[in-house]
Amino acid sequence: GLAKIKKEPIKVLVSGAAGQIGYALVPLIARGAMLGPDQPVIIHLLDIEPAVLSLKAVTMELTDAAFPLVKGIVSTTKAAEACKGVKIAIMVGGFPRKEGMERKDVMSRNVSIYKGQASALKRFAAPGCKVLVVANPANTNALILKHFASPSIPEKNISCLTRLDHNRALGQISERLKVHVGDVKNVIIWGNHSSTQYPDANHATVNTGKGWKPVREVVSDDQWLNTEFITTVQQRGAEIIKARKLSSALSAASAACDQIHDWVLGTPKGTWVSMGVCSDGSYGIPPGLIYSFPVTSKKGEWSIVQGLEIDAFSKAKMEASAKELIEEKELAYSCLN
Ligand code: NAD
Ligand code: LMR
Repeated sequence: GLAKIKKEPIKVLVSGAAGQIGYALVPLIARGAMLGPDQPVIIHLLDIEPAVLSLKAVTMELTDAAFPLVKGIVSTTKAAEACKGVKIAIMVGGFPRKEGMERKDVMSRNVSIYKGQASALKRFAAPGCKVLVVANPANTNALILKHFASPSIPEKNISCLTRLDHNRALGQISERLKVHVGDVKNVIIWGNHSSTQYPDANHATVNTGKGWKPVREVVSDDQWLNTEFITTVQQRGAEIIKARKLSSALSAASAACDQIHDWVLGTPKGTWVSMGVCSDGSYGIPPGLIYSFPVTSKKGEWSIVQGLEIDAFSKAKMEASAKELIEEKELAYSCLN
């Protein structure tokens, strides 16, 4: 008979691997949830010296779980070693805001981390490496990474995580309509992964059993979509922090998997997802900003869904989030000077 074609392992980097999201993310990658159940992986774990013991523990547990798809583990505190030959880089590492810290203090630390890691990726990652920035401020960290990894890593290969917000929006609509979450699609998260993001259900559809219908037609209280739905999704991260005393990790790790999965393996026909990507000026968003758009993906390349009708209500919200991103960009660059 025909011999089964064995795939070559792909090197996947997780930075901040000793943290909460890292702990939830690494087993998902190792199980094939990110790149497919037949795709072997070599997992690169990066963290910093103060977290070296936790990093060691994660590494030991990864060995102990005996995942058949894991063909190797590289565990290191050196960015150059961590980035060597990686095809996928999930950047979760960063400095969280602590009590008494100004926004600018956090920004300046993260901006210099992302400047440094951009150079390591630029020098050592495999050609065509795809980068997903998870660490906050996710859009602006990705913007800095884009700048300093250029031209080796093209802007098309850099994204930030807004799939979590997208999935949260699907979850809210599915609860409201009492349908399975798989029967809701095509919500949109526009803008920043912050409370100015605009969760938009104007183009979302629901599978009624007799075909897909606009959510706006099916929902009994249309006003809910313009008010509570938006604020619930915008504030969900803060609500989790309040309840857990820690930020979301299970859902963030799962969303990071989804985002890479659909980017690399493609979006299903008739479905789009939200992803923070470099604006090309679509929908009047300033070119160059890392902004969340509806995207489809094919053969590893995303493209922004074009031609959606945008009403005045939506336009104002989309512009407000773009404005916040311009301010973050200015702050980030002022920190580098
Ligand atoms: P965490 O503090 O548990 O883990 C972060 C890890 O990064 C720590 O182990 C830390 O040692 C490490 N780190 C710090 N500086 C580093 C560097 N220079 N290189 C490598 N590693 C470094 O935090 P967490 O809960 O895992 O969250 C990680 C980040 O993700 C935070 O910034 C959080 O705000 C963000 N987040 C984003 C989303 C999203 O949807 N975009 C969702 C949830 C959380
Ligand atoms: C989330 O969306 O859960 C996190 O980004 C929340 C936060 O502010 O850290």
